[in-house]
Amino acid sequence: DKGNHRHFMLKEIYEQPIVVAQTLRSYLQRMDERVTLPIPEGDLSAVKRVTIVACGTSFYAGMVARYWFEQFARVPVDLDVASEFRYRAPVMEPGGLALFISQSGETADTLAALRHARAEGQTIAVVCNVPTSSMAREADLLLSTHAGPEIGVASTKAFTCQLAVLAAFAANLARAKGRLSREDERAIVEHLAEAPASLNAALALDEAIEQVATQVAPARDVLYLGRGTDYPLALEGALKLKEISYIHAEGYAAGEMKHGPIALIDDAVPVIVIAPSGPLFEKTVSNMQEVRARGGRVILISDEDGIAEAGAGCAATIALPRVHPLIAPIVYAVPIQLLAYHVAVQKGTDVDQPRNLAKSVTVE
Ligand code: F6R
Repeated sequence: DKGNHRHFMLKEIYEQPIVVAQTLRSYLQRMDERVTLPIPEGDLSAVKRVTIVACGTSFYAGMVARYWFEQFARVPVDLDVASEFRYRAPVMEPGGLALFISQSGETADTLAALRHARAEGQTIAVVCNVPTSSMAREADLLLSTHAGPEIGVASTKAFTCQLAVLAAFAANLARAKGRLSREDERAIVEHLAEAPASLNAALALDEAIEQVATQVAPARDVLYLGRGTDYPLALEGALKLKEISYIHAEGYAAGEMKHGPIALIDDAVPVIVIAPSGPLFEKTVSNMQEVRARGGRVILISDEDGIAEAGAGCAATIALPRVHPLIAPIVYAVPIQLLAYHVAVQKGTDVDQPRNLAKSVTVE
C-alpha cells in the first residue's frame, strides 16, 4: 500500500525518520547513554580485522562504515563488492570478523561470499532487513535493520537503516577494543539520536529538490562528487540516478576529479557536489571551484553555513540543516534519493519497477 504517495519509492523515502528511529531503538540505550547490540555480542575484543562485503547500495553503506570502523575502533578494514571478493583469493586470518550487508539477505553473490568467509574461519556478522532470510539464518551475529518491507526496487530506507546499525556496531567494536571513552560514547548516542529529526528537516526540502531536478532531468551525463564519507554518498547518488532515471551518472572522490574526469566538464554535465560543513569542507569546495573555473554547472548540497560560504555562482544549491559529521551520510541520503526520484518522475520512467532490474538478485 502506497498510502498517499504516488510511488513506493517516495513512501519509503518518507518513512526514513520513523524506521531509522525504530532501528536505533534496538541499538541505543538513551537512558544510560550507551550503544549496545540487541544480541549477545560474543567477544569483539579479539577482532583483529574486519572484512566488509556487499553489493550495490548495501556496498556503499559498507564503504561508509569502513571510515567508522577505522576511526572509532582502529581496526583495519578490507572492503569489496561480493562479486569480486571470492575471485581475488582474499586473505582472512584467524580472529577476523566478516561483515555482510544486505537488505534482502538473499543476494546470491553476497551469500556465496559469506559461505566462503565461513569456510575461512571468520566470525560472520550480517546486517540485514529480513530476519528470516538465508544470510540472517547463517549469521553468528545478526544485526537487524528495522526498515520494514522495501518494495521500490531502488533501495532507500534500507540504506539509512544500515548506516544507523553500522555506526552503532562500530561504536560497540571500539568499546570492546578499549577505544571508546564514556564521553565519546555519550556523544555518539546523542548524535545518532538526532538523526530522525534531521531526516525530517531534509524531507521538508522536497519541493526545493523537485525544482533542482528540472536542471538535472535534461542532462545526458551527471557527475557526483564527495570526499570522506560523502564519497560513497556520491557513488550512491549516481547509482540512484542511473537506476531510475536512466541518466548516465558517475560518482567520484572529489580529489580525483583533476586526475581525469575534469576533462568531461562543460555546461551540459551537471556536477553535484556533496559537501557538509566539517573538516573536509574546504578541500571539497576547492575541488568544486576547479569545476566551476572550467565552466561546469555545479549543484551544491550542503548546509546553510556551507551554502553561505561557497554557494555563490552555483547553478543551484540545496541547504540542509547543519548536522554532526557522524550522521551526515544518513541525512544527506535524503536529497540524493529525492533528486533521483523527481528526475525520474519528470522523465516519466517507471520509478518502482525500473527496466532490467530485480529487487533481489539471486543469480551470481
Ligand atoms: C540499489 C539496489 C541494489 C541493491 C543490491 C544489493 O538501489 O537496490 O544495488 O542494493 O542489489 O541488494 P541487497 O541489499 O538485498 O543484498
